[in-house]
Amino acid sequence: MTIAGAWHAASQRIDRLDARLLVEQVTACTHADLLAHPARSLSTDQLSRLDALVGRRAGGEPLAYLLGSAAFYGREFWVTPAVLIPRPETELLVELAIERVQPHSGARILDLGTGSGVLAVTLGCLCPEARLTAVDLSVAALAVASSNAARHAVEIDFRAGQWFSPLGEERFNLIVANPPYVAQGDPHLQQNGLPFEPQMALTDGVVGGDGLACIRLVVGGAAVHLRPGGWLLVEHGYDQAGAVRELLHRQGLADVASWRDLSMIERVSGGRLH
Ligand SMILES: C[S@@+](CC[C@H](N)C(=O)[O-])C[C@H]1O[C@@H](n2cnc3c(N)ncnc32)[C@H](O)[C@@H]1O
Repeated sequence: MTIAGAWHAASQRIDRLDARLLVEQVTACTHADLLAHPARSLSTDQLSRLDALVGRRAGGEPLAYLLGSAAFYGREFWVTPAVLIPRPETELLVELAIERVQPHSGARILDLGTGSGVLAVTLGCLCPEARLTAVDLSVAALAVASSNAARHAVEIDFRAGQWFSPLGEERFNLIVANPPYVAQGDPHLQQNGLPFEPQMALTDGVVGGDGLACIRLVVGGAAVHLRPGGWLLVEHGYDQAGAVRELLHRQGLADVASWRDLSMIERVSGGRLH
């Protein structure tokens, strides 16, 4: 079968763009190759790999896991089913973070729940003299984050463990966190490919809870790990901004505020240590 024929056949089963990207993946060709050489043939092996990938996509598996890669803030990152697929709304955390650190200041930055490492790596690229530390409970996620740090030549001190526990008494100029915040039992966990993502990246697992258990731990522990004037910035769910601001106020943080993502949803809240 030709590349054009394979693309057409795959497009009958899945989205046309997804089909094209999977054809490019198995044939190791670019979009330009595909347009320039539509009559090139696929080998039997390529056809059977494409058929398997199209079947998985038709079954709801996210495209990023099939491609092994996802874009974040203009860079490509490796992703595996051990990590959350980076979301565009998380780019707001990067914007807010870089407004708060001088790019050449040698600031200490902590990324809690680093997953694929997108936040730590992106901040490392944008603030080349910052000293980066990143924590995750998942050793498998840390392996992916570490490969992304190498891919983008960013030096990051990775630590395995629960939130602040691997950090002793270390203090930071900036702490960013995108913790799991979907309430256990929320029907969204069954939709849009979420069943394929690590549940520990999505939900705090508290049955009957409000999804805020991890955010409470992150906000509750931040003050003793911030340097004077240092900021904590936390991503949260679309309806959690008020509750997170309340948690930040209770920790005595100053300049508490929430910021809206491109969908105009309050998506990140934060505060500063006096
Ligand atoms: C929503 S994902 C965020 C991943 C990445 N920072 C991003 O923005 O795409 C949350 C991450 O928190 C990690 N995590 C969950 N529970 C944790 C805990 N108790 N301590 C540290 N990390 C935890 C998960 O493994 C997951 O990688």
